Amino acid sequence: MFRILDKQVLSPVIKQMVIEAPLVARKCQAGQFIILRIHEEGERIPLTIADFDREKGTITLVFQEVGKTTIQLGSLEAGDSIRDFVGPLGTPSHIEKFGTVICVGGGVGVAPVFPIARALKEAGNHVIGIMGSRTRELMFWEDKMREVCHELFVTTDDGSYVRKGFVTDVLKEVIEERGKDNIAMVLAIGPQPMMRACCNLTREYGIKTVVSLNSLMVDGTGMCGCCRVTVGGRTRFVCVDGPEFDGHEVDFAELARRSATFRVEEQRAMEHHQC
Ligand code: FES
Repeated sequence: MFRILDKQVLSPVIKQMVIEAPLVARKCQAGQFIILRIHEEGERIPLTIADFDREKGTITLVFQEVGKTTIQLGSLEAGDSIRDFVGPLGTPSHIEKFGTVICVGGGVGVAPVFPIARALKEAGNHVIGIMGSRTRELMFWEDKMREVCHELFVTTDDGSYVRKGFVTDVLKEVIEERGKDNIAMVLAIGPQPMMRACCNLTREYGIKTVVSLNSLMVDGTGMCGCCRVTVGGRTRFVCVDGPEFDGHEVDFAELARRSATFRVEEQRAMEHHQC
């Protein structure tokens, strides 16, 4: 069993939990994820690691309550335990000194961007952060992002905080202002339409763009094929080949279709849970 040491409510639907998992924390690197199961009969869900502390042996997760399992997880409190906690899974982020890197986090995607931005800064890159959310209420970790970014731009879809606009609006402005040849790479993590929009934009400028995909998963070890995605015309498994891929090569339309496969069942599970 894996104990929840701390729980923070970041917004009405976004929760942060610190989990005691020393073996996972010891090996964890930026960009990796875990798969957890709350109880014996629970669903297995992948969550990208938002932070880790090797000394304390802890993993920090940030998740949005979007379905039955994440709502159940969000109802747990510090002192409660999680049945299974497997990881670290996936290929770590490729970190080296690239130059100027723009790290874009949309919605709850800000959480997995954080450790990657930190690693990129530690590797000597100039890190420009862009974080966006639908409303001010859903914004979190601005302070943590400021610590790991040399510059940080914040935007909200409805203009309720700092400025009105999408992360792609800010991304375009930053690229135009700095010049496309001065940007070595863009990292974009968030909802699939946001990542797709970022890739469509950076493709015009010819800027390499990395995305972290959030496909459906079952085993997380490359055996079931549930997480398959087409990248550059080849079938790749998000759980072992990813989760990060060249965003210009990802077939986002197929990813969206596959992600919706169990929407009816997910809806039924939610309704059953709420009864
Ligand atoms: Fe089964 Fe990736 S989750 S192969």
